[in-house]
Amino acid sequence: MIVGVLGLGYWGPNLVRNFLAQSEVTKVIGCDQRDDRLKFIADRFPSVQLINNCKDLMNGEADLIVIATPVDTHYKFAKEALENGKHIWVEKPFTSTSAQAEELIELAENKNLRIFVDHTFIYNGAVRKMKELVDNGELGNILYFDSERINLGLFQRDINAVWDLAPHDLSIMNYILPNHKVVAVSANGIANFNGKENLAHLCIHFNENTFAHFHVNWVSPVKIRRMIVGGDKKMLVYDDMENFEKIKVYDSGVEFNTTESIHQALVQYRIGDMFSPKINQTEALALGANECISAIQENRNPVTSGKDGLEVVRILEASDISIKNKGEIVELNSGILA
Ligand SMILES: NC(=O)c1ccc[n+]([C@@H]2O[C@H](COP(=O)([O-])OP(=O)(O)OC[C@H]3O[C@@H](n4cnc5c(N)ncnc54)[C@H](O)[C@@H]3O)[C@@H](O)[C@H]2O)c1
Repeated sequence: MIVGVLGLGYWGPNLVRNFLAQSEVTKVIGCDQRDDRLKFIADRFPSVQLINNCKDLMNGEADLIVIATPVDTHYKFAKEALENGKHIWVEKPFTSTSAQAEELIELAENKNLRIFVDHTFIYNGAVRKMKELVDNGELGNILYFDSERINLGLFQRDINAVWDLAPHDLSIMNYILPNHKVVAVSANGIANFNGKENLAHLCIHFNENTFAHFHVNWVSPVKIRRMIVGGDKKMLVYDDMENFEKIKVYDSGVEFNTTESIHQALVQYRIGDMFSPKINQTEALALGANECISAIQENRNPVTSGKDGLEVVRILEASDISIKNKGEIVELNSGILA
């Protein structure tokens, strides 16, 4: 399989490295309009063929085009690639609007081409372990997600911190709770500098008795990458900044009884053992590249497909509307996650 990587900026080189390592890949073509980025790749990966005109990539021999350009260009490059009969890998977030995502999904279906959306964390060992723990009932019913993704972040020209950071957390949430239905979003945020929100809090409302909260921030003096998943049996903390013991499962919980006679709530806390399960350390992008290639070869949708990308974009769109309206609850169309 011949793979073309479009965009060799910050993220593109990681994609080049991981596709080069796939045994099914016979050639990687890198494309960027900037000479310094082409030189960066030439110095590190001499086997990569380099070009500076994306038209040559679109019309060339690549079977799969990997789009790692700024978010506001994803749609046009994805559409052009599909129209040229190429399978596509699109970086997160999939597109700038849900209408664009829907159009690309339809185009790919009509042409029997595959869309892989790079929700990288879905291929991360810790996230896989979280899903396993939820799926096998270890945590019980999920009560809430509470997550923080904050640091001194790289300000993006075309998107705010929600579109940059929250796709990771939202894709993890959707992956772990595939049968929960997101019905509404409320969000607050502030744009201190360039009109794009650099800090935001997102609240996700479900049909089920579950709630999710995500805090994203590009202007934090400390780097925190932490998610708490509360279940009615056990709770877990996923701390991506930990080198070891990224996941800790706490046998802790709350037992809530009401005694009708005294109309009083009795709350009992249970504080039990903590254990840290072993997790697979394989680089997520390596597993993602492998899944993308397998999906193409097996003519099936990948684990992170265009539809998964669309579900995340719908929540991001609703968050923008809510932020503009000071936290107003924005209901998602009934089609969401259907
Ligand atoms: N999955 C992840 O964890 C992850 C991490 C970082 C970034 N990303 C995503 O990767 C994408 C790229 O982000 P980045 O930080 O690498 O951006 P970047 O600005 O560093 O790199 C983008 C590159 O695209 C090139 N480019 C733009 N238009 C082009 C054109 N017409 N022809 C050729 N080259 C062109 C630019 O010259 C630049 O080198 C974004 O969608 C971002 O959200 C994903």
